[in-house]
Amino acid sequence: MSDRVAPASFAVLTDGLTRYFGPQCAVDGVELRVEAGTFYGFLGPNGAGKSTTIKMLTGLLQPTSGMIRILGYDPAVPNEAIEIKRRIGVVPENLALYENLTAIEYLAFVGKIYLLDRQVMRQRIDELLELMQLANEQRKLARDFSHGMRKKLALSAALLPNPDLLFLDEPFEGVDALASSMIREVLNRFRARGGTVFLTSHILDIVERLCTHVGIIFAGKLVEQTSLAELRQGDSLEKRFLEKLGYQAEAGPRLSWLEGGLPE
Ligand SMILES: Nc1ncnc2c1ncn2[C@@H]1O[C@H](COP(=O)(O)OP(=O)(O)O)[C@@H](O)[C@H]1O
Ligand SMILES: [Mg+2]
Repeated sequence: MSDRVAPASFAVLTDGLTRYFGPQCAVDGVELRVEAGTFYGFLGPNGAGKSTTIKMLTGLLQPTSGMIRILGYDPAVPNEAIEIKRRIGVVPENLALYENLTAIEYLAFVGKIYLLDRQVMRQRIDELLELMQLANEQRKLARDFSHGMRKKLALSAALLPNPDLLFLDEPFEGVDALASSMIREVLNRFRARGGTVFLTSHILDIVERLCTHVGIIFAGKLVEQTSLAELRQGDSLEKRFLEKLGYQAEAGPRLSWLEGGLPE
């Protein structure tokens, strides 16, 4: 953790966070409380408002209304917004990579934006490429990377400036078991040295293995926010998650042609 200012007790704090797209309310009065040093999983079904929320938290999208504090800073104040950018790492939904750069070129570009010392930058890039097993792909352009490689490169770029807080939108989506275990290992180490992780996911067993705290968003509303242990109460996360969404398999709609006995 950086020693520039005393760490705020909440890494992420929002009140009444709301975003409309035209008449549609995608995020509806969300109150997030993410304590520094925790691993927070932001869960919800497709279209619930996870990406919209993370975009507002990372300055990629303006809220319609509501208050946001990131590491104690107010993103609506220009100087504080810069301080936030300095201290967070982001892996957005659409992995905004530079398609005509190689992995090394991309990471060096990010390092320069963050004004990293050349020596420090070189060492970190070497370690990241090695750890993420991208070292053999050094000459490939980002546009020729597979989906999993893109995720690993985006995560490497987010980690390079040594942030205090990481925002990851679906970091495990479409990633194979090897890369997934690598990413989990890196995130655990990041947290062990005092970092905070905020990730969105709909892959519940990964969340169950990684996260200390969870928030559940459904149709734009935060329906639960607690520690993982508190939510599970000894049950599986999936069971408790579906309960929170009010889902009952037996009561749901059916496909008529799958009903009744099997044909002779
Ligand atoms: N740029 C946009 N314009 C219009 N509607 C949007 C836009 N972005 C997201 N939405 C809508 O907002 C809702 C929440 O989307 P999103 O935050 O991407 O959900 P999630 O990440 O949980 O799957 C969805 O109904 C989606 O269609
Ligand atoms: Mg999303």
